[in-house]
Amino acid sequence: MAFRTIIEPFKIKSVEPIKWTTREERERHLRAAYYNLFLLPAEHVLIDLLTDSGTGAMSSRQWAAMMEGDESYAGSPSFERFRRAVEGVFGYQHVIPTHQGRAAERILFSVMCKKGDVVPNNSHFDTTRANVESTGAQAVDLPAPEGLEPSNPCPFKGNMDAKALERLIERVGREQVPLVMLTITNNSGGGQPVSMENARAVSAICRKHHVPLYFDACRFAENAYLVKLREKGYEAKTPKSIAQEMFALGDGCTMSAKKDGLANIGGFLCTNDDALAQREKNLLILTEGYPTYGGLAGRDLEAIAVGLEEVLDEDYLRYRIVSTAYLGQHVSDAGVPIVQPPGGHAIYIDARAFLPHIPTREFPGVALAAELYLEGGIRSAEIGTLMFGEAAKMDLVRLAIPRRVYTQSHIDYVIEVIIEVWKRRQRIRGLKLTYEAPVLRHFTARLAPL
Ligand code: F0G
Repeated sequence: MAFRTIIEPFKIKSVEPIKWTTREERERHLRAAYYNLFLLPAEHVLIDLLTDSGTGAMSSRQWAAMMEGDESYAGSPSFERFRRAVEGVFGYQHVIPTHQGRAAERILFSVMCKKGDVVPNNSHFDTTRANVESTGAQAVDLPAPEGLEPSNPCPFKGNMDAKALERLIERVGREQVPLVMLTITNNSGGGQPVSMENARAVSAICRKHHVPLYFDACRFAENAYLVKLREKGYEAKTPKSIAQEMFALGDGCTMSAKKDGLANIGGFLCTNDDALAQREKNLLILTEGYPTYGGLAGRDLEAIAVGLEEVLDEDYLRYRIVSTAYLGQHVSDAGVPIVQPPGGHAIYIDARAFLPHIPTREFPGVALAAELYLEGGIRSAEIGTLMFGEAAKMDLVRLAIPRRVYTQSHIDYVIEVIIEVWKRRQRIRGLKLTYEAPVLRHFTARLAPL
């Protein structure tokens, strides 16, 4: 079939109204939120692109499966369905449910890491880094160099710098590297995919040095589909077989089912190591719950089991990737500088290039996010100097697209708003901090316009 228009591959059974506000109201709300969109009540937002995590729409099949949820404390059949669904895609022997991704991270790193260790990753997500560091280990980002150049259109900018990994292991010694992590897709690096070739190279280095390789698998289906579209030899393979091939290169994974699990809550941790799995389950019981529910209701396990199947559907993935690219293409055609090429779950605007007159210490990303809200009630997220401090290599504004929630007309509206702000960019001013917390300051920071 050769129609050019790629439609949403679903029809809508239940709708949620979204509310218009006037510019005066938005000015008031923004002041009351101290120019930090995390502090904004969600009902004052028209189009919420703060995150694609836990914000997706479930299908009628998922809602139906939830009614089948069995809430037994131990040995629930819902766990068995969940376990089989995870095993069918990921292929690891032990499947440990958790309430979300960071809980899986905390358990994994508490069991595997100690003070003085080094954990390499293509790019740590902020909670991943924080969980590594809370064990006293050091989190080291090893992105491929092209991943740090926003306008470079290289197809696999999520890759890890494999040579740098090998050098690092040789320098610090295998004993100091308890595991290597590969984040698919690379969220902090612009939502960019990791190629199978790169995953194979990283895996070979890990095997050679006897270091386990774990995937941060939050957006594994989007990564698999981008491999299908962009990597030679994968054109005719299904996203599921691509995902299976990639996971077979590793020893386990952490997963946030709030992304490519198509669920509103949930996660899991997988491993092939029996002894490790036992210790992980012991820790799980302490804080998350018994190993057949891990902090989730039986109905959540059912929603994830169905979600993992739906997320690998090719019609869904085509629509998902094409609609993200549609937003990226249209704003980029109007001259707006974005991280190229468009990634899986989000478009990242390069705020330093958008607002070159605002120095990084005046938070160009926060200033741009505030303007997008003022102009059209759109909520986005800064990934830059507010989030990472002086260490920020880029100032980006992420427009993350919730799964199956917004239609093309919503996205057309977002494009219009961004282009309006682009036209009057010279008049946008920077901000100064008036309050900051000692850690993860971006969540609660207060700012004021200069
Ligand atoms: N790893 C990556 C790559 C992530 O993007 C996230 C969450 C996590 C781990 C943690 O998972 O939220 O279930 O505990 N990212 C969200 C975001 C919050 O907005 O990008 P979680």
